Amino acid sequence: MDILRRIGKFTVITALLNVLIFISILLARQKEEGREVSIGERFHKETSLTWRGVIGDMFRAKPKQPPQYKVYPGASKIELPKPKYGGITVEEALKKRRSIRNYSTKPISKAQLSQLLFAAQGVTGKMYGKALRTAPSAGALYPFEIYVIINNVQDLPRGIYHYSVLDHALELVKSGDFRGQITNAGLDQEMLGDAGVTFVLSAIFDCVRHKYGERGFRYVYMEAGHISQNIYLQAVSLGLGSVCAGAFLDERVNQLIDVDGQKEAVVYLHAVGAL
Ligand SMILES: Cc1cc2nc3c(=O)[nH]c(=O)nc-3n(C[C@H](O)[C@H](O)[C@H](O)COP(=O)(O)O)c2cc1C
Repeated sequence: MDILRRIGKFTVITALLNVLIFISILLARQKEEGREVSIGERFHKETSLTWRGVIGDMFRAKPKQPPQYKVYPGASKIELPKPKYGGITVEEALKKRRSIRNYSTKPISKAQLSQLLFAAQGVTGKMYGKALRTAPSAGALYPFEIYVIINNVQDLPRGIYHYSVLDHALELVKSGDFRGQITNAGLDQEMLGDAGVTFVLSAIFDCVRHKYGERGFRYVYMEAGHISQNIYLQAVSLGLGSVCAGAFLDERVNQLIDVDGQKEAVVYLHAVGAL
C-alpha cells in the first residue's frame, strides 16, 4: 500500500512538472509572437523583393545618382606599380586562406600593396565605356570607395589614402600615425594597428539606391564580402596574412576617413600584414 501511495505521489509530481513545462513553453511562444519586430528583422523584411514592391518602387522617389568616381582634387598622388598576373592557383589560395591576426614587423612592399588594391577594386575591363572591376557589383554601379590606413609599407609615409581606381594610384587624405585611432575604433583589436595596411571599405549608398531603392543597401553589404574575399585570396597568394573585421565603432572610423556616416559610411575593415 505504502509503495502504491509513493508511486502515485511520484506520478502526480511528474504530471504537474510536465504541465508547468508545457505552460511555460506556451507563454514563451506567445511572448515571442507578440514582441516588437527588431530593426534587423524590419530591415530584412522591408528590403525583401516582392512583385508589389518592385512595381511600387518604380513610382517611389529615389536619390540622384552620385558621380561614379570620388576624387580628391589637389591631393598628392602616389603612383602604384602595375599589377602582375602570377602567383599561386585559386585552389591553393582557397585551401590556404585563414584569418591571421599576428604580423611581423617586416614592411609590406609597394608592389604588394598595389596588388592588394587591384584585387579589391582594380579595373579589369570596359563595357560601354564604363570601367569594370575585379569584384562584381550590382548593375556595375560600384558603390565602394577604398581607403587604406598605411602603417608599415616600404617607401610610403604613414597616413590615410584613397584608392583612385581609374589611374590605379593613391591620393593622400591625411598624413600621420593612425594606428592608435584605428585600433580604438576597432574595439581594441590590435591587428588593426599592427597591420602593414588596414583597408577601410566605405560605401556611397546612393550609387545603388538611385537604381535599386532600399534593396540597394543589401547589395552594398553583399559587395563588401566580395571585395574582402578578393583581399583575403590575394594576401594568401602574396604570402601575407590578413583578416576582415566587422566589429568597429562606425562613427569613429567614419570620422577617421572624413565621411558623414549617412550618405557614405564604413561597412567593413580588412587588415593585412607581413608574416
Ligand atoms: C562578417 C564578418 C565579420 C568578422 N569580424 C571579425 C572581427 O571583427 N574580428 C576578427 O578578428 N575576425 C572577424 N571575422 C573573421 C572570423 O572570425 C573568421 O573568418 C572565422 O573565425 C573563421 O576563420 P577563418 O577566416 O580563418 O576561416 C569576421 C568574419 C566575417 C565574415
